[in-house]
Amino acid sequence: MTVILDGKNLAKKIRKDIKEEVALLKEKTGKNPGLAIVLVGEDPASKIYVNSKIKGCKEIGMESFENFLPKDVTEEKLLEIIEKLNKDERVNGILVQLPLPSHIDEKKIIAAIALEKDVDGFKPDNLGLLFLNDKKSLHSCTPAGIMRLLDEYNIDLKGLDAVIVGRSNIVGKPLAGLFINRSATVTICNSHTKNLKEQTKNADVVVMAVGKEKLLTEDMVKEGAVIVDVGINRTNAGVVGDVDFENVAPKAKYITPVPGGVGPMTVAMLFHNTLKAFKNVNNIE
Ligand code: GUN
Repeated sequence: MTVILDGKNLAKKIRKDIKEEVALLKEKTGKNPGLAIVLVGEDPASKIYVNSKIKGCKEIGMESFENFLPKDVTEEKLLEIIEKLNKDERVNGILVQLPLPSHIDEKKIIAAIALEKDVDGFKPDNLGLLFLNDKKSLHSCTPAGIMRLLDEYNIDLKGLDAVIVGRSNIVGKPLAGLFINRSATVTICNSHTKNLKEQTKNADVVVMAVGKEKLLTEDMVKEGAVIVDVGINRTNAGVVGDVDFENVAPKAKYITPVPGGVGPMTVAMLFHNTLKAFKNVNNIE
């Protein structure tokens, strides 16, 4: 029987647990974890994401600091704002919503965020620390959410052959590090991979993170595999993943749905990281 990995419900539970911990920490320290959110411009999708993060903060009792900036804001001004947030003790995490307008150098902006406030886990140091299995480092939210979801269902990666399709800096690469730390044997594929099916059909775990609707089909997976779908593809039929869910699911042992799988876990991990950043800076275990 196929088990659906229910990210929606788990994310709800995680948020509830964080809310309780935030309340306890507030009592204990008199302080409140705070997340600064920076949005440049008016991109409708980014606005929806940002607003849901702000709403989430309020629901779990974290403080949010909103910085909505015009699309023509200069790089210099944005760097100035980040510097101010770096110094603000009420702010434990800084999230700059991507993508940024083309006149702003994303790398430069991410580099400006203080390491201990990098709740997106985008900074090179955090990615390096992730590969070194450092316990205090902040992990990119989507890979962190995938690990939490696999753990919830007691899926042990030790010795498993895992194929990750997608080599982005925020999903594929950090996830490979997290899988390696759990003793999986990892292959990372990309759009130039010679024969994708050749790679995926023998894998115990397949993670799809390329943004290509229904790319992973039933003939490409092994009976009993674990399938994780990171894809969010907007189609006339609604949001669909990178996996042909209907046909792949019967063959899989575990599979994430889209929506309701990895997506809600990503946002929950942002709050998890903000709490972790708060605890790191206040030396709380
Ligand atoms: N844009 C799309 N996803 C993300 C994310 O996880 N973090 C940030 N900062 N921007 C994004």
